[in-house]
Amino acid sequence: MRRGSKRFHGSNGGVRLPILKVARLGHPVLRQVAPPVRPETIRDAETQRLIDDMIETMREYEGVGVAAPQVHVSQQIAVIEAKGNRRYPDAPDIPLTVLINLEVMPLSPDLEDDWEGCLSLIDFRGQTPRYRQVRAKALDREGRPLEFIATGFHARVLQHERDHLLGKLFIDRMPSLETLSYLPEFSRYWSG
Ligand code: NI
Repeated sequence: MRRGSKRFHGSNGGVRLPILKVARLGHPVLRQVAPPVRPETIRDAETQRLIDDMIETMREYEGVGVAAPQVHVSQQIAVIEAKGNRRYPDAPDIPLTVLINLEVMPLSPDLEDDWEGCLSLIDFRGQTPRYRQVRAKALDREGRPLEFIATGFHARVLQHERDHLLGKLFIDRMPSLETLSYLPEFSRYWSG
């Protein structure tokens, strides 16, 4: 992880939290398969600090998820959250969830197309098919098992983050790149 590349921004409840640099398309770390986290190390200070920094980084850049490879750490850790997000104004709320060693299993073969973006391809949106409903299994930041069913946008975000842990990006899941759009063109020609 690139501790040297951190910058600090304003106060957050009196505590200064670091924002991590996000790896962009082309950085090899995004294409590595991340190894699982050993459960006995989840409560280590370094892992806990990484999780805190990932949450802060996701909020700073208005993502709805960040996976550890996106902050140059090849480990199976992701954080997700959606609440009044400006990059995804129509998104339903997703509570803050820390997902370690995330597994995502489709519950039906139904795929749904929708627009997807990524902090590692910050300028783009593209229509990406995802399973409509999935079961997610992971460990939380205390190392406790988590298991839940998610549908729609929530299921999409989980599949997107799971893909980051596998070295995949949303553009790999697009059957055609014809809808891949810069954000201003997306707003002008495709949204609504
Ligand atoms: Ni992403």
